[in-house]
Amino acid sequence: MIEIHNIHKSFGGKKVLDGVSGVFETGKTNLLLGASGTGKSVLLKCIVGLIKPDIGSVTFDGTYYTNNKLDIRQEIRRKIGMLFQGSALFDSMNVEENVEFPLKMLTNMSKSERMDRVNFCLSRVGLENANHKMPSEISGGMKKRVGIARAIAPNCTYLFCDEPNSGLDPQTAITIDELIKEITEEYNITTIIVTHDMNSVIEIGDKIMFLYKGKKLWEGNNVEIMDTDIKELNDFIFANRLMRDAKKVEDERAEEEDRVEEERKGETR
Ligand SMILES: Nc1ncnc2c1ncn2[C@@H]1O[C@H](COP(=O)(O)OP(=O)(O)O)[C@@H](O)[C@H]1O
Ligand SMILES: [Mg+2]
Repeated sequence: MIEIHNIHKSFGGKKVLDGVSGVFETGKTNLLLGASGTGKSVLLKCIVGLIKPDIGSVTFDGTYYTNNKLDIRQEIRRKIGMLFQGSALFDSMNVEENVEFPLKMLTNMSKSERMDRVNFCLSRVGLENANHKMPSEISGGMKKRVGIARAIAPNCTYLFCDEPNSGLDPQTAITIDELIKEITEEYNITTIIVTHDMNSVIEIGDKIMFLYKGKKLWEGNNVEIMDTDIKELNDFIFANRLMRDAKKVEDERAEEEDRVEEERKGETR
């Protein structure tokens, strides 16, 4: 479980995060949702420690991270896997070398142990025969898979993904979302996913935090999100015609159920 307490961050007098607190649960895909420019990536970077918050702190399974001693921070840092926006593979390394890289940096594994782990992770993301391909030779979806394999290779306890399905076609996007969710549940990882994508919300939104102009306006799951009275959240969700239609169908179904229930009561009276 990751907890954030009252995180504030400004850049050059411009407030980006304005006192965000919350909990990200273990074994769940926790979504950080919001429009572009609301501070999602900045919050994720504050959690990972790439940006230092002006005020506030982060704890990982009860241990303070922000401002703690270097060795404690490094210990936590070793348990974090990160899937960067746009995959960020090393272009000069092949698939296998990309996934091996964090094992070389972070573990004392022998070459053969590293290769076993690389092959295990590649097969876990459905990429058995791509070891010697270069990033330029594989599709966007495959790059994301390599990015996921690289993130989980050192047995991460925490997994952070910034817009993991941006730039993918809708079908591949869902496959990648589902892969992250499966891995999260299988290895009981605390996963935080930054997204502005309503498809992700519907598919994998176990726990969602909605950010608006640097503040947390709402949190809940993918069922609850369809039925809130927060204007900013509804404007965001129902900006999309498909979502408005889905909501209309759902409301009509609920009304019909209420009507049938009323009738049934009337008959038994
Ligand atoms: N390193 C930085 N220096 C100055 N401004 C930044 C920096 N990083 C982000 N910002 C600003 O913070 C705001 C939120 O950015 P970001 O967290 O990337 O938004 P998003 O929700 O789209 O991920 C934006 O206005 C952005 O320009
Ligand atoms: Mg971002």
